[in-house]
Amino acid sequence: MKVVYWSSTGNTERMAQMLGGEIEKLGGSVEVKEVSAVSPSELENETVFALGCSAMGDEELDEGEMEPFVQEVEKFASGKKIGLFGSYDWGDGEWMRKWEARMKEAGADVAGTVIANNEPGDEDQENLAVLAKALLS
Ligand SMILES: Cc1cc2nc3c(=O)[nH]c(=O)nc-3n(C[C@H](O)[C@H](O)[C@H](O)COP(=O)(O)O)c2cc1C
Repeated sequence: MKVVYWSSTGNTERMAQMLGGEIEKLGGSVEVKEVSAVSPSELENETVFALGCSAMGDEELDEGEMEPFVQEVEKFASGKKIGLFGSYDWGDGEWMRKWEARMKEAGADVAGTVIANNEPGDEDQENLAVLAKALLS
């Protein structure tokens, strides 16, 4: 399974690694990659994958790399099972609610969303373990 993320200071990157670790613990094989190293077409033939991005702008995705990537994914997201995750700071998770709604509008089956306030901790890891299970089921 592919886990594709964008991260500015490493918080969402850490979540991506945690999710990858949880998928492996459950016996799944996983590739964790930064969005800059992935072409959207690499996800087109996948039925299940996860995307991570921190809250940027004013409750937006990173506009440089993740936003254009997600716009491409929306074109083929229908019927795919997708997990979403990311880190935030001062907001209330609005960026993730908007992201989830977009993916659902595109026809995706959103397997779960995990948001971590700043650096992910033990509780976030538990939530990522639940997401890993949902993605593999
Ligand atoms: C330019 C910029 C915009 C941000 N916008 C938001 C925001 O709208 N809401 C929020 O909760 N946090 C916002 N943050 C905080 C980051 O989401 C937070 O620091 C997060 O932990 C960064 O994760 P990352 O290291 O994976 O990028 C912003 C941070 C920066 C630098």
